[in-house]
Amino acid sequence: MTLSPDLSALLALLAGLLFIMGLKGLAHPKTARRGNSYAMAGMALAIVITLLQAGVTDYITIAAGLALGAVVGVPIARGIQLTSLPQLVAAFHSFVGLAAALVAAGMYLQHYAFGLLETRETIEMSAGAAIGMVTFSGSILAALKLQGWVSGRPWTWGGRHVLNLLLLLAIVACAVAFVTTFSPWPFVALIVLATIFGYTLVAPIGGADMPVIVSMLNSYSGWAAAATGFMLEQPLLVLTGAIIGMSGAILSYIMCAAMNRSFISVIMGGFGAEVAADVPAAADGKVAKQAGVEDAAFMLDTAERIIIVPGYGMAVAQAQHAVKELFNTLTEQGKEVSFAIHPVAGRMPGHMNVLLAEADIPYDAVHELEEINPEFARSDVVLIFGANDVVNPAAQTTPGSPIYGMPVLEAWKAKQVYVVKRSHRPGYAGVDNPLFTMDNAALLLGDAKDVAEKLTQAVKEG
Ligand code: TAP
Repeated sequence: MTLSPDLSALLALLAGLLFIMGLKGLAHPKTARRGNSYAMAGMALAIVITLLQAGVTDYITIAAGLALGAVVGVPIARGIQLTSLPQLVAAFHSFVGLAAALVAAGMYLQHYAFGLLETRETIEMSAGAAIGMVTFSGSILAALKLQGWVSGRPWTWGGRHVLNLLLLLAIVACAVAFVTTFSPWPFVALIVLATIFGYTLVAPIGGADMPVIVSMLNSYSGWAAAATGFMLEQPLLVLTGAIIGMSGAILSYIMCAAMNRSFISVIMGGFGAEVAADVPAAADGKVAKQAGVEDAAFMLDTAERIIIVPGYGMAVAQAQHAVKELFNTLTEQGKEVSFAIHPVAGRMPGHMNVLLAEADIPYDAVHELEEINPEFARSDVVLIFGANDVVNPAAQTTPGSPIYGMPVLEAWKAKQVYVVKRSHRPGYAGVDNPLFTMDNAALLLGDAKDVAEKLTQAVKEG
């Protein structure tokens, strides 16, 4: 059975709509599951449309490709920790980039051999191969950095911007030569230069900017897919690629805004210091106090309003269920307990929302930054589980700090603050946190899950 072009276009439009509804659903935890179902239905429809196109006959090769992808992909997706998702996403983007470049190379070989090459196609091939290879090498480097297999330190060599500019100009020159001559050599040179450019584009970026670059590479992978759609004359792939390209770009912008970093300064790179040593004193010589679980349990016992701030450490410790137990225990005692979510808490957008939803924490107890910030001054105790940069007052008080201007959760305004973490080391941005040495703050040193369990026990024993 083969679909008529009209029916195929109509169904492709429907699949596109399902993708858009999927994205819309993902904008809120309550509708995220439904959104995912729409997106999955859209993808299933897209696969069926593709399989029923005229000219698609080699179902055995297609089935073998799908089976191979499933055999490799399913165990990886099942085994991955949520904290490692950014590097997995980056690694997957590299395949999209490579696929775009391979399609371009394959089409060139086929059409060149039969003398069918057209100028329009060479433009599409140049775009697909260039964006594809930039995405490929850039994503591999990003994944290796995030996994810690290569140093995450930004490459700060002064000549990097000039080099990148020269590479970009050389890629454009190769594309022009290829489009005008159809010769394979400028095309090969374009592929090599784009591969190097992907590396030199990501190498200067480090530290807290890495998730932004992953989202940007997501955007590139979308444009690479769109270019492939043009080459293969598949409007659905063009549409899907454009959705990914735009949503990745918008997400990068949102992340930059939440960190108060300009997009250009992220691309220019060089941000992200090495984590400083484990020293208990802040720059002003003040020493962070330490508290025991019993002290915190006593304060919780007398508190009426409590705010819990989750961060990356809660994700690492997989402490969300233990924190939920603590939440249950405190609310059963009639206390008002809320969660404060910073837009870039953790290592990816929505990281904390996903963890809290996984632990079945009611959505109405979870509040975004703008909503919860006025509440800190009214609260008796703030419990910070593995968050650091997102509660750093230096963002408001220290011009020149790398995080100055970033919107932060104003936890320090509470009567008493407990910071659960394992050491005195700084957070992802590598900057000191003056909150730790404030009079109303104390560190509860230990693994977040362990401390949450002990706190629950101590509160129960009351
Ligand atoms: P961080 O500033 O990275 O702080 C996490 C804290 O958790 C650390 O101080 C660490 O201290 C502690 N920790 C680690 N493992 C722990 C464990 N097992 N038990 C208890 N504590 C543990 O995290 P954050 O406050 O969530 O901020 C997120 C950072 O990522 C920001 O800099 C943000 O800009 C950046 N970022 C996020 C995103 C997105 S979209 N989420 C995007 C770009 C950048 P110890 O080592 O002492 O335990």
